Amino acid sequence: MFSRVTSIGLFGLESYRVDVEADLSGGLPRFDVVGLPDAAVSESRERVRAAIHNSGFDFPVSRVTINLAPADIKKEGPVYDLPIMIALLKATGQLRVNTDGCAFIGELSLSGEIHKINGVLPMVIRAQKESIEKIFVPYDNRRESAVVKGIEVYPVKTVKELLDHLNGIKEIEPVTEEDYIEMLTPLGLPDFSDVKGQYQPKRALEVAAAGGHNVLMIGPPGSGKSMLAKRIPSILPDMTFDESLETTNIYSISGKLPDGISLMKARPFRSPHHTISPAGLSGGGTVPRPGEISLAHNGVLFLDELPEFSRSSMEILRQPIEDGKITIARVAATYSYPCSVMLVAAMNPCPCGNFGHPTKPCTCPKGAPARYLSKVSGPLLDRLDIHIEVPAVNYDELSSTVNEECSADIKKRVNAARKLQQQRLENTGISCNAKMTASLTRKHCQITEEASKVLKASFESLGLSARAYDKVLRVSRTIADLENDEIINSEHILEAVQYRSLDRKFWKT
Ligand SMILES: Nc1ncnc2c1ncn2[C@@H]1O[C@H](COP(=O)(O)OP(=O)(O)OP(=O)(O)O)[C@@H](O)[C@H]1O
Ligand SMILES: [Mg+2]
Ligand SMILES: [Zn+2]
Repeated sequence: MFSRVTSIGLFGLESYRVDVEADLSGGLPRFDVVGLPDAAVSESRERVRAAIHNSGFDFPVSRVTINLAPADIKKEGPVYDLPIMIALLKATGQLRVNTDGCAFIGELSLSGEIHKINGVLPMVIRAQKESIEKIFVPYDNRRESAVVKGIEVYPVKTVKELLDHLNGIKEIEPVTEEDYIEMLTPLGLPDFSDVKGQYQPKRALEVAAAGGHNVLMIGPPGSGKSMLAKRIPSILPDMTFDESLETTNIYSISGKLPDGISLMKARPFRSPHHTISPAGLSGGGTVPRPGEISLAHNGVLFLDELPEFSRSSMEILRQPIEDGKITIARVAATYSYPCSVMLVAAMNPCPCGNFGHPTKPCTCPKGAPARYLSKVSGPLLDRLDIHIEVPAVNYDELSSTVNEECSADIKKRVNAARKLQQQRLENTGISCNAKMTASLTRKHCQITEEASKVLKASFESLGLSARAYDKVLRVSRTIADLENDEIINSEHILEAVQYRSLDRKFWKT
């Protein structure tokens, strides 16, 4: 006896339709799963066997073969437990209903409960694209499933509940609008109004957020670098629906979607510790999971204490930061995850942290700041458009009762500047100044004659490189956008040049 049930598979972020076929034949009892299953899929045999027994059905005493088609793509994870079980119950005649147009995904417990799995959002999107009418998903995955329109999604808790539904005994309620919950504010991410003083660093971060520029903050311990960084997502422009979907997909396949959330409308903030392995940053494992850089997709990747990161960690970030995607090669296949991030890094100016401090002496040997900075990979430093110093705050500033500007107000200006960029860069595939290519930079960064002189003078006095030249232009483009000026003037240039601390400072000596 033979039966076929539809399911959905995942390969990295790619999803595809899977036909789960069950065949029963005479001969000694055995239970095989074919079609490139991984270990978790093979183990599904034991879960399915127990779940069938414990839900009051009989496991066939014959030779059972399950085929997962197409057979040339590796099948991973426990998602096929549910379709395998349905296919078996159909093949044995214990379930006699038509399941055409239905897809099933879910992990079984031995007792017949249906457990949450990773990657349900991209799978439901795939099912909808494949014109599947109904999909049965684990109850705990119902929120992310609610993002997808044009398909009926049935959240199921147990095998018994599912079979009662299929047999028309007791219907399960499909997910509705009410199951759809957006995550609007970044979880636990605070507001800029908490930061007293520090007007220059705040302004630089506003410019960075407006143009999507990568930033490095340098300052002594306790000056508020980490505090400032955590507040950057709160001033980044609102996410588009497609951006939200991309980011949520990554969290869905990683099993990191916050509880009770359907769609992430808040930009992520990831702050991996400097002891993280290169694989932790880029994504790793035999079936690679997205790393920190992809979990920060469309948000902020914060590298606190930058020089403490290992060389190999820094090296692995170079290409992905540039390309906005990361490719991980494995023997069986190559996986690709998006990672369009705003890179924010922080560091002390020297190992003791006090170099350049107005009152505290630096206890490091001569040349220590330059050596400390040289721990940071050059090409990675090159990807940081804006470098700023964050000086220690003084008591008066800290104890001041002035109301500081809140993130929502800063964000309004950022949104307006970003809108100008999106209009200007329409149909180029990029949406912010930081991502402009050399030719787009030339095209869109028109500067006044005076500005051009100022740029030349700063260039000569600072000894900037050709690379820095384009960066200064792009950052001044953003500064002009914040003022709604189409032509870049000398003030914009002067401000942008200020954000090249590393080209200017003692680090060179
Ligand atoms: N401008 C400020 N306004 C209000 N509080 C501040 C300010 N700057 C620092 N603080 C306080 O000091 C604490 C330490 O700041 P933070 O951890 O951000 O410093 P840091 O520059 O990251 O230091 P480190 O180099 O040691 O990591 C903050 O949690 C905050 O309570
Ligand atoms: Mg810190
Ligand atoms: Zn020092």
